[in-house]
Amino acid sequence: MSAEPLEIHLEEQDLGRSLRDDVRTGLTADAKWLPPKWFYDARGSELFEEITRLAEYYPTRAERAVLAERAGTIAELTGAKTLIELGSGSSEKTRLLLDAFTRRGGLGTFVPLDVSVSALRQSTAEIAADYPGLRVRGIVGDFTHQLDRLPTGGRRLVVFLGGTIGNLLPAERSAFLAAMRDALEAGDWLLIGTDLVKDPAVVVPAYDDAAGVTAEFNRNVLRVINRELDADFDPAAFTHVARWDAEREWVEMRLRAQRPMRVRVGALDLTVTFAEGEELRTEVSAKFRREGIAGELAAAGFAAHHFWTDPDALFGVTLARAE
Ligand code: AVJ
Repeated sequence: MSAEPLEIHLEEQDLGRSLRDDVRTGLTADAKWLPPKWFYDARGSELFEEITRLAEYYPTRAERAVLAERAGTIAELTGAKTLIELGSGSSEKTRLLLDAFTRRGGLGTFVPLDVSVSALRQSTAEIAADYPGLRVRGIVGDFTHQLDRLPTGGRRLVVFLGGTIGNLLPAERSAFLAAMRDALEAGDWLLIGTDLVKDPAVVVPAYDDAAGVTAEFNRNVLRVINRELDADFDPAAFTHVARWDAEREWVEMRLRAQRPMRVRVGALDLTVTFAEGEELRTEVSAKFRREGIAGELAAAGFAAHHFWTDPDALFGVTLARAE
C-alpha cells in the first residue's frame, strides 16, 4: 500500500504560533533557553541522522541492539494491531519491530508521529513501500500535545524510542506519562527507550563529537529562528557546549555567546542582548536508572513488565502495560 497523505494535527499556524511563543518565552527569561523540538527542520533532521552514525553517539546503536534481540518477544507479548510511534523521525530502528510483527502477523496499522514534515514524508513513503499490506498513517504533530488524538481500534503498542523522553523536564515527563495513560485503554502497551546513567566520560563526548556534527546540530536552531522568525543570529558567534549535570543526571547542550551581541527577532518585534560568555540552553537529555523508570511509569498507571539493555548496559528499553 502507499502511505496515506500525512495528517496534519499541528496546523502550520499552530507550529508558527508555538515557535513564536517558545522563542519569546525562552529568550526573554533570565536564564535563556529554547525547547529542543525546534532543531528538527529538514537540515536539523539530517544532522541528527548523521549524529546517530558517529562513533561517539552510542544510544542509537545500543538501542538497536536491544530491539534486534527483543523484537520477536515484543510482537508476541503485545499482539498489537496498531503500532504508534511518537517522535518517529526516520523510523529506522522501528523496522526491527515491523519485521517482527510481519513475521507474526496481525499488525494492521502503523502510525508514526513527528514534528518534522520532511522526515515523516520520507519515512512513511519508504515504509509503505517496504511493508505491503500495512496501513501507514503519518501524523505531523508534537507528541506532548497530540495524545488525545491517537487512533483507536484493537490492542495498541505505543513506542517512544531513542531516549527522546529524556528531552522532557521531570514535571513535563510526569504530565506526559499521565496524558499517555489517559489516551490508552487498560491492556495497551508502551515501549520506552531511555539512555542510562553512566560515566560522564562516555556521555559527554556523545554530545560533543570530534567532527563537530553535534555543534552544527545545536547551532541549527539559530538558523531555524533566523529563517522562520526573521531574526539575525550569527550562529558562528556561538560556541557549542555539552555539560553533565551530576545532580540531575542529565546532559545539557548550550550555545555560548563568544562576544556581546544584540539580536533582532523581527517577527516578534523583539531585541535580545547576550553578554560575552552568556549561555543559551538548547536541550536537556536526561539519563535514567531502571528503578526510576519503573517508578515514574507506576506513578502514571503503567506496570513495567520487562526491562532490557544492550550487552554494555548503555541503554534501556522498558515494556510497560497500561493498568
Ligand atoms: C533525539 C532527543 C534522543 O537527546 O540524545 C543528539 C538528540 N541531541 N545529540 C538525544 C540529540 C544531541 C537526542 N534525542
